[in-house]
This record gives sequence, C-alpha cells and structure tokens, in this order.
Amino acid sequence: MRASSATLPPDMSAEGRAGSVGAGDGSVELVGVTKRFGTVTAVDAIDIRVRPGEFLSLLGPSGCGKTTTLRMLAGFEDPDEGEIRISGRAVQGVPPHRRDVNTVFQNYALFPHMSVSENVAYGLRQMKTDKTEIGRRVGEALEMVKMSRLANRKPREMSGGQQQRVALARALVNRPSLLLLDEPLGALDRKLREEMQIELKLLQSQVGITFIFVTHDQDEALSMSDRIAVMLDGRVEQLADPDTVYDHPRSAFVAGFIGKQNFFEGTSRDRGSVVEGDGWTFRSSLEPIGAVDGRAALAAVRPEAVRVSAQQPSDGRNAISGDLASSSHLGDVIQFVVLTPDRKEVIARLPRPDAPHLDVGGRVWCSWEADHTHVFGAEQVEIVLADPARDEAAAIAG
Ligand SMILES: Nc1ncnc2c1ncn2[C@@H]1O[C@H](COP(=O)(O)OP(=O)(O)OP(=O)(O)O)[C@@H](O)[C@H]1O
Ligand SMILES: [Mg+2]
Repeated sequence: MRASSATLPPDMSAEGRAGSVGAGDGSVELVGVTKRFGTVTAVDAIDIRVRPGEFLSLLGPSGCGKTTTLRMLAGFEDPDEGEIRISGRAVQGVPPHRRDVNTVFQNYALFPHMSVSENVAYGLRQMKTDKTEIGRRVGEALEMVKMSRLANRKPREMSGGQQQRVALARALVNRPSLLLLDEPLGALDRKLREEMQIELKLLQSQVGITFIFVTHDQDEALSMSDRIAVMLDGRVEQLADPDTVYDHPRSAFVAGFIGKQNFFEGTSRDRGSVVEGDGWTFRSSLEPIGAVDGRAALAAVRPEAVRVSAQQPSDGRNAISGDLASSSHLGDVIQFVVLTPDRKEVIARLPRPDAPHLDVGGRVWCSWEADHTHVFGAEQVEIVLADPARDEAAAIAG
C-alpha cells in the first residue's frame, strides 16, 4: 500500500520543487542546518522544505539524526549552523512553548492519575484558557481520535493504541500548524500499528496540519507519507515521494534501505551501463549513479523484477544460475532463494499465479531486464552488503 498524493496539489509531490515555501501556515524550512554534540555531527548541513499540510517522514537507521532534527524544530536544541523557519518565520531563539508546534514522543507519557479528558485539557489549563472553550476543544480533539467514549478512563485502563490516540489528542487540542511525531507507533504491536497508520493518515488529511513523522520503518514511511527524507549519518540522501525513492533511488543506501534489493559487486564499464563480476555480466539501461569505468560498482535488482526458471533464458536478459535453496509463501507472493556458485543469495518474489513449480535443490536461472538494473559506484558497499547476522554477533562478542 502506498500513499497517494491526491490530498496535495499536483506540484507538491515531486522532488526539488519546494523552493517557494515561505509564508504559509505550517511550512517548514531547514536551510544548511548542522548540529554537533562534541565530536559527533548528529545533523550535517541538511536542507529540507516542507509545505503546509504535507506529511513528511524522516526515515533512516538508528543514530542518523532524526530525533535531533525534530528537537531543533521543537526548540529543545539550537542548531550550530543554518536556519530554521516555521510558517515563514525564523525561530532562532524562540522557546519551545512559543513555537506553533506540538510534539508527540515515542513514550507518550500520559499523566497516570488524570483521566483521558484531563490529560488532553492539561495544556489548555496551563494557558488559562476559558473553561467552556476547554470543554469544547477537548471534546473536538477526542472526537477526532475517536476516544470520546473513553473520556473518563485513566491511562492504565486503556490499550497502548488507545493511549497513543490520547497523546495525539493532547497534541492536536492546541491546534498547532505543525505536529512533530517521533516514532509515535513504535511501541505498538503490528496489527494495532497498521490500524493506527491508516487512522493517523486519514486524520492528517482531514485536519490539514503539517506532519513531520519520524520512523525507521520503511513500510510505514512508504504507506503514509507525501514525501520521505531518507537520512544517513546526519545527511539527507534523498528527499522525494514514495514512488520515486522506491523506483529511482539516488544512492545504493537508499536502494537497499527502501524495500528489498539484490546487490552484485563487480566492475563497471561502458560508462556504467555494464557491470561485470565473476562469471556474470549485467547490463543496465538506467542512468548509473557514481559509477566509474574500471572501478568497483554495484548492480542492484529488486526481487520482484527477478524471474526464475529451470531453463537458461535465451533472449539476452541479465541472468545468473544457481541452486534453488528454498521456496516459501509470503501471502500472495512466492519467494525463491537461489544460491549461486560463489555462495551469493539471489532473492526472487513472484505473484503466486506466475510462480513456476521448481524443485528445491535443482539448478535454476534467475533473470531480469536491463531496465530493472540499477548501477551505483561502490562508495556505500560496506553499508549495503553488511551482514546483519555478523554485525549482531560482533556486537554480542563486544
Ligand atoms: N544529547 C546528546 N549528546 C551527545 N550525542 C548525542 C545527543 N543526542 C544525540 N546524539 C548523537 O547524535 C546522533 C544522532 O542521534 P539521534 O537521536 O538524532 O538519532 P535518531 O536518528 O533519532 O536514532 P534512533 O532511530 O535510534 O532514535 C547519534 O550519534 C547520537 O548518539
Ligand atoms: Mg530517535
């Protein structure tokens, strides 16, 4: 499932057209923003522009700078360099409570001794808002997150998803132009999480508040966002709509982090249109990224672009043979794992009706088209070919 950009004007979904953001309510601009903690550069000269009412996700591995970026927007950290503008106004020196921003943290920390409505009303009470006004706005906010029925419950009398919705209501009741959400669904089990993803997206398109949503779950980012900023080591690797980051990744890291990818390490030639390895040659008709002829390069193909058959394809497709190690059902998709002679796993995923019947242990051919073959320079080879099992073993061994 992907989010469509139907709730935004057509010019808002593509990469690189964000230049005109400025005066609108809920727009956000981070220009050359850098944050260092001692020797660590947590956020490294990032440029992100968010349009009013947009749903933007910050997606990336642990430690890439997502929370630090949110904390600078909320006013809990000051950037060392660069400028932040919210709704067209520079916020340098403006304290958190004076910014037109609310934050929902991962550990949503409701007050345990207060009821749902008291929790939601808390901020308005602090601001000495008129009693009738408080009642009306709390009612509205609870209605939005479908929690009116449980208004008198205490947090411990509710499920994680219900508590999460109260935390959202508490942020929405202030009617901010901008809502920052830091892994708000991280603590929920998968089913509840998927339900909340749908509800949250729906809510966001109804209230028209700008959402900046932090996650390290690529499916979540793909399904909810108008655009995704994929981050690595404090930098933005790519900022684009879900289809673009999936189909046209700008780096090997993005290609591997979003969805599943088969990577092959070889040497590039013919201006990056060919990558050659031990016993294989793959052609690409896509624009290579960072590949230099005669140097190491990565060819990448998605599992859903790979066909598997017992015969060698004769039509010039990219092909590699190996032994069929396993075939398994993933819902409506059959996943084949093929082990090549140099012990490389190639993964293929085919819709069940198109999947051939093949014997595990038998010799098979994996093949795919040149226009499904991405070529990258090898700068990020260590990251994309890292073996998570080995990394974990190393961490345990200390
Ligand atoms: N207060 C701090 N003091 C020192 N280093 C910090 C501080 N806050 C963050 N860092 C470092 O800055 C980098 C970015 O941290 P940040 O919390 O923004 O990552 P993140 O993308 O939110 O990661 P996660 O997915 O694990 O929450 C990390 O290397 C982290 O250790
Ligand atoms: Mg974080």
